Amino acid sequence: MPTIHYILKDGSRRSVDAKAGSSVMENAIRGNIRGIDAECGGSCSCATCHVYVDDAFIDRLPPPDEVEGELLDGVASERQPGSRLSCQLAMTAELDGLTVRVPETQS
Ligand code: FES
Repeated sequence: MPTIHYILKDGSRRSVDAKAGSSVMENAIRGNIRGIDAECGGSCSCATCHVYVDDAFIDRLPPPDEVEGELLDGVASERQPGSRLSCQLAMTAELDGLTVRVPETQS
């Protein structure tokens, strides 16, 4: 089971074991990770699941599609190179150790 590491607003770190195929957002909800609200339930329309993907993993993920890209343009926190909507990131065994940071404006 691949593990996802979440870095919270206060700098603390939480880890969640993920089923392959589940999204980074779904695992955050299951693990009670603060700051990932996922108001739209994963239908890529709210951007409340915004995370910053660690540099080491950015190129290992498929790039955002057009809809995700447009939503990322309007996120509350600054859009950065690692910005992604966690509902659009499906876990695979190869992504074991994926590290994402919750933006400070999300709590
Ligand atoms: Fe709404 Fe990801 S959960 S865009």
